[in-house]
Amino acid sequence: MKKILRNIFQQHKTLFFSVWVSVALCVFSAAVSAELIELSVQDLQQDINVLLEEKFKTANYSQRGADTCLACHNQYSDKDATGIFSSGHGRVDIKDGPFQRQECETCHGPIGEHATWPEEGQVREPMVTFGENSPVSKHNQNSVCLNCHQDDHNKTTWLGSAHQSNDVGCTSCHTLHQGDDKVRDKTDQYQVCTSCHQERKMDKHKRSNHMLGEGLYACSSCHNPHGTLNQNMLIQPTINQTCTECHTEKRGPFLNEHAPVAEDCALCHSPHSSNERYLLKQRMPFLCKNCHVGQHQNVAGNVGSAINGKSCLNCHSDIHGGNQL
Ligand code: HEC
Ligand code: HEC
Ligand code: HEC
Ligand code: HEC
Ligand code: HEC
Ligand code: HEC
Ligand code: HEC
Ligand code: HEC
Ligand code: HEC
Ligand code: HEC
Repeated sequence: MKKILRNIFQQHKTLFFSVWVSVALCVFSAAVSAELIELSVQDLQQDINVLLEEKFKTANYSQRGADTCLACHNQYSDKDATGIFSSGHGRVDIKDGPFQRQECETCHGPIGEHATWPEEGQVREPMVTFGENSPVSKHNQNSVCLNCHQDDHNKTTWLGSAHQSNDVGCTSCHTLHQGDDKVRDKTDQYQVCTSCHQERKMDKHKRSNHMLGEGLYACSSCHNPHGTLNQNMLIQPTINQTCTECHTEKRGPFLNEHAPVAEDCALCHSPHSSNERYLLKQRMPFLCKNCHVGQHQNVAGNVGSAINGKSCLNCHSDIHGGNQL
């Protein structure tokens, strides 16, 4: 195996550009069959680093851009790439888009010797690939995208976000080679997010579920998956601001405030789902009794005995605040 790699390295002294130096410590590993892997991981990574360093330095782009690629990656190929033309990235008229730069190679790196058919026992020189199965590290995959998207509105918080720091890639969510990017569709987004956030898949089966995944709104109505400075990547600074964006009637201020409502809706409600009605965290009256023990002592007419077996809400109907509580 080492021999094969060395062969490849010697053949290709003219590859990629310097941004790419650190790309893909193990670009080759996917193309290599298990029996061939005899050398240590460190050896392999070292060799590939050498390869990439040289490849990047020389930035050997194809003369004919996308046309070169499409000779092989056309609709008859099992690696059909024509889908890129149904997305903004494939349009020539988009300012600062890939097709105003090196076209396909803006994202996949310089072609180098990739178009050369490998001899028997050798592997085709790889291109940069994306997604969960790519041997290229997420960090390096993302850096391709961030080249252009670093300054976008809201994307400056990507670095350090829960997703970035847990090795989630841009293409863990986004698909580029097709017109409809599921994660940006209100109905389909649910599937993308819950492919990792399994516990949110259970929401559907609960008694009260905020109608998540039904196209009314999406996870990204409350969260910015690119990160925010707020807790849990919420778009709004607080939970209450998150909720009252839509439930404006609960925003107040009211003549009589109910302290916990003004403080945090999530003291009583689970934002995603609950087996109690109205997304309540607990059944009544236990929910109230968490905070109100021994109430009614000072209430005239001894309401105390009258409440037994009655719902607190029978009498305290403006639980979110109102003219009276
Ligand atoms: C001569 C034919 C040919 C040309 C030209 C060609 N490729 Fe490929 N490419 C292939 C084949 C065949 C594969 C399948 C993998 C292999 O053989 O290792 C492949 C694989 C790929 C992959 C990896 C796909 C995967 O899912 O692993 C990418 C990305 C890629 N090519 C991009 C490009 C780009 C970008 C260009 C133009 C700059 C290009 N190719 C030009 C034949 C070609
Ligand atoms: C050469 C610069 C460039 C690179 C590299 C790039 N993008 Fe873009 N991207 C753009 C531009 C320009 C647009 C705006 C397209 C439009 O207006 O339709 C865009 C649009 C988008 C959109 C919005 C959807 C759309 O199609 O309009 C998403 C999502 C996106 N890019 C994700 C990515 C991801 C993920 C990567 C990395 C795999 C990436 N981009 C790499 C320039 C780039
Ligand atoms: C966890 C999933 C997820 C990840 C990871 C992710 N995105 Fe997004 N992205 C989304 C969603 C959802 C939207 C739509 C947002 C909306 O509708 O408000 C979006 C929208 C976009 C857009 C469209 C323009 C905009 O700002 O609304 C661009 C560009 C984009 N993402 C680029 C990226 C880049 C670059 C990365 C990696 C650094 C990335 N995304 C990582 C989910 C993700
Ligand atoms: C904006 C960045 C970007 C551009 C431009 C781009 N690609 Fe891709 N390419 C990707 C990403 C990301 C994937 C992973 C699959 C997806 O997101 O749809 C991919 C996947 C691929 C694959 C693998 C497809 C498969 O079925 O396994 C090939 C081959 C490919 N691209 C070739 C090309 C060619 C050829 C062009 C130019 C015509 C091109 N790409 C332009 C980002 C890009
Ligand atoms: C109505 C607004 C809203 C929607 C829609 C929403 N969330 Fe949340 N999410 C929240 C709030 C508020 C918190 C903070 C909860 C807390 O601190 O009690 C949160 C917390 C989280 C957390 C971190 C804490 C935990 O429970 O693990 C994750 C992960 C999460 N949400 C994922 C999702 C996913 C995935 C979706 C879509 C299926 C989604 N959220 C839809 C409001 C929302
Ligand atoms: C590829 C897997 C993956 C996908 C897809 C994904 N996430 Fe995550 N997400 C993670 C991981 C890993 C973490 C960090 C560990 C955790 O909190 O569970 C995380 C954390 C979060 C958090 C918690 C942030 C915090 O500060 O605690 C929220 C909110 C979240 N994701 C929302 C989303 C939304 C919304 C989507 C879809 C647009 C999505 N995720 C798609 C893997 C993913
Ligand atoms: C993007 C808009 C939006 C945001 C943000 C939002 N909601 Fe909702 N909420 C709705 C819609 C629409 C419904 C009605 C659909 C339904 O009955 O589930 C609803 C229903 C509810 C219900 C009644 C559920 C039932 O079973 O009848 C409660 C309770 C609720 N939301 C609490 C919250 C809380 C707490 C937050 C903040 C964490 C919040 N909402 C944020 C849109 C939103
Ligand atoms: C002290 C506990 C508590 C807090 C805090 C609380 N709620 Fe509620 N909420 C309830 C109870 C109890 C119900 C059920 C009312 C009923 O059965 O009529 C409810 C019902 C709801 C409903 C559905 C019925 C309706 O009135 O529209 C929505 C929406 C809602 N709450 C939103 C919110 C929002 C938004 C916040 C934060 C601003 C919040 N809640 C804070 C206890 C609370
Ligand atoms: C997270 C704690 C908490 C929960 C849960 C809670 N409350 Fe309260 N409630 C308070 C606080 C704090 C006050 C204001 C302090 C005070 O006057 O005792 C208050 C005030 C009240 C008042 C008005 C007192 C006045 O003097 O005007 C009523 C009535 C009341 N709560 C009823 C309820 C009912 C009914 C529930 C269940 C749906 C409930 N509370 C759930 C914390 C809570
Ligand atoms: C039969 C009607 C009724 C029911 C049922 C009822 N209350 Fe009350 N409650 C009252 C009245 C009347 C007052 C006095 C209101 C005032 O002074 O403005 C009161 C006052 C309160 C107060 C503020 C004064 C104090 O003594 O702490 C709290 C807190 C309270 N109720 C909580 C609850 C909770 C929790 C439940 C359910 C376990 C409940 N109430 C059930 C009628 C009722």
